[in-house]
Amino acid sequence: MSLREVAIAPFEGQKPGTSGLRKKVTVFQQPGYLEAFVQAVFDTAPELQGGTLVLGGDGRFFNREAIATILRLAAANGIDRVLVGQRGILSTPAASAVIRRHRARGGLVLSASHNPGGPDGDFGIKYNIANGGPAPEAVTEAIFKRTQTIGRYRILDAMDVKGVTMPSSVSERMLDQWIDQVGEYRLGGMIVQVIDPVEDYAAVVGALFDFDAIRRLIARPGFRFRFDAMHAVTGPYARRLLVDMLGAPATSVINAEPKENFGGRHPDPNPAHAPELYQAVVVDGTLDFAAASDGDGDRNMILGKGIAVSPSDSLAVLAANATLVPGYARGISGVARSMPTSRASDAVAAALKVASFETPTGWKFFGTLLDAGRITLCGEESYGTSSDHVREKDGLWAVLFWLNLLAAKPGETVLSILQAHWRRFGRHYYSRHDYEAVDAKQAAAALDRLRAALPGLPGEKIGALTITAADDFAYRDPVDGSESRGQGLRVICGEQARVIARLSGTGTEGATVRLYFELFESDPARQNDDVQSRLQPLIDFAEVRTGLREITGRTAPDVIT
Ligand code: G1P
Ligand code: ZN
Repeated sequence: MSLREVAIAPFEGQKPGTSGLRKKVTVFQQPGYLEAFVQAVFDTAPELQGGTLVLGGDGRFFNREAIATILRLAAANGIDRVLVGQRGILSTPAASAVIRRHRARGGLVLSASHNPGGPDGDFGIKYNIANGGPAPEAVTEAIFKRTQTIGRYRILDAMDVKGVTMPSSVSERMLDQWIDQVGEYRLGGMIVQVIDPVEDYAAVVGALFDFDAIRRLIARPGFRFRFDAMHAVTGPYARRLLVDMLGAPATSVINAEPKENFGGRHPDPNPAHAPELYQAVVVDGTLDFAAASDGDGDRNMILGKGIAVSPSDSLAVLAANATLVPGYARGISGVARSMPTSRASDAVAAALKVASFETPTGWKFFGTLLDAGRITLCGEESYGTSSDHVREKDGLWAVLFWLNLLAAKPGETVLSILQAHWRRFGRHYYSRHDYEAVDAKQAAAALDRLRAALPGLPGEKIGALTITAADDFAYRDPVDGSESRGQGLRVICGEQARVIARLSGTGTEGATVRLYFELFESDPARQNDDVQSRLQPLIDFAEVRTGLREITGRTAPDVIT
C-alpha cells in the first residue's frame, strides 16, 4: 500500500457547465485528466476529509474505470468512507437521496445525463454538496480555479483488499469486481461501502405517494401504461418501484437493462428522441399513460393518449394538484422555475397565493430556495421536475406523481387533466428549438446580434403583440444574495408572450443555441391549437433578430421539443 503524489500540468477547460464537467469520453481518458479534476474537487472541499462521500453514476461507458480511480484518489485524500452504488450505479436523484439520508458531506455523480454514451460518446462528473444538490456556482467556480493551478494529485498506488496488498494494475481490476457486491471493504485507511443503489431512493419516494391508490389504478382493467428506461439508469429503479412495489406487469417497464452506450440511442426523454413511444401513445392512442427517463434518471417525459405534456405544464399541474398527494397534502410553500420555463407555474402560484421564483437555467439554482423552505416544487422546461424530497430533479418521482393524480381523479385522463388546467389558469403554448453543434463563433454572433438589439425592442410589435421589456437575465439569489449574470436573453410581451435565447452549457461539440417560445391563451376555445403554428410569429421574430439562419446557414432547428 503506498500513497503517491503524481505531478501533473493543469488541463485546459475543466470548467463545470450547467451541470458538471461534461466532455467526450476520449477527453476523460487522457492520462491524469479525471485525476486532476477530482483532486481539484478534493482540494476545494476540505470538508470531505474525515467524512463520507457518495459515489455512483449512470452506468455509461467509462463509469467503472472512473469509479476505480476515484476510490483510489479518495483513499489518498483522507476521505473516511465512500458509499458506492452497487455496480457503480446511482441515478442522480438516488445519489441525492443517499447523500441526505446518510449525512454524507458530498457526492460525485458520474454522468453526462441525456448525452449519448459509449467510447465515442460523452462522460461527465458533477460534485454535489451535503444538502444532496449540485454544488452552487461559487463552488464550481472555485473548483475550476483550482484546476487551473493544480500541480499534483494524490492516489493510493496499491491497495488492500480484505488484507491482501496487490500492485495497482491488479487491484484496479479487482476494484471493478468488488463494486459488484454489496458489502464493506477497506481501501487503505478508508471504508468502501457498496450499497444497494435503489433502497434509499425507494424509501424516500415511497413515503410521498399513495401506493395503495396507484396499485389499484395499475390493476384497473383497461389501464394500459408503459415506462421506458431508455437502456439507462432508471431500469432497476423502475422495476423496484413500479413492478415490485406497485404490481405493474414486468412488461410495462421497457429497455430496463442499463447499457454502457444506452443501446446506441440518445437517452433523452422527449418526443424527438423517443419517437416510438410518442407514436404509440400520443398518435395511435394505444396506451393511457407512458413515461420515460433519461441517462441518469433525473428527467421525465409524460405522455397520455393524444397529448405530450409540456414539462412547463407538468410543473404547473403538479403544483395545482399537490394536495392530492399524501407527501404534499399540507400544501406547498412555493414554486420555482428556470427562466426559460413557461410561466404556467407562476399562474398556479398566484392562484394558490404561494411564492414563485424565476431562476437561471440549471438545478443548482434551486438549492438555496429548497433548503430555506421557500419552495416545495421546482422544475425546468427541459423535462426536469422535482420537490424538496431530494436536491436534484427526479424522473421517476414525476411519473409516480402523475400516477397518483390519475389515481386520485377517477375518470380523468392525462389530456382531460391538462384541458381542465388550461381552462382554469389559461394555457401557455410552449416550445424550444435547438440548433446543435453550431460553430461557437457563429452562435455567439447570433446571440450578440439580438443582445445589441435589446435596448431598442420595447414598444416594437411582434404581430399583434407588443414588446414590453427586453434584457439579459441576471439573478440575485434571494436566500444567499449571490449574483449570476448573462443567463439568457429575454424578450417579453407583458403576460402574453416571451422569446428567450441562450447558449447551452452542457454540450460537448461546438455550441448549441436554444430558442424558447411561450404564448399565453386564456380563451378555452383557442387552447387546443397546433403549438408550432400558434408560436410562428415568435419563431420568425427570433430567427430574424438573431440572424441565426443567415449567420449559420442552418435552415431549421435540429430538435424541436
Ligand atoms: C440543459 C437544460 C437545463 C438542465 C441541464 C441539465 O442545460 O436546458 O434546463 O438543467 O441541461 O440537465 P443547457 O444545455 O441548456 O445549459
Ligand atoms: Zn439527466
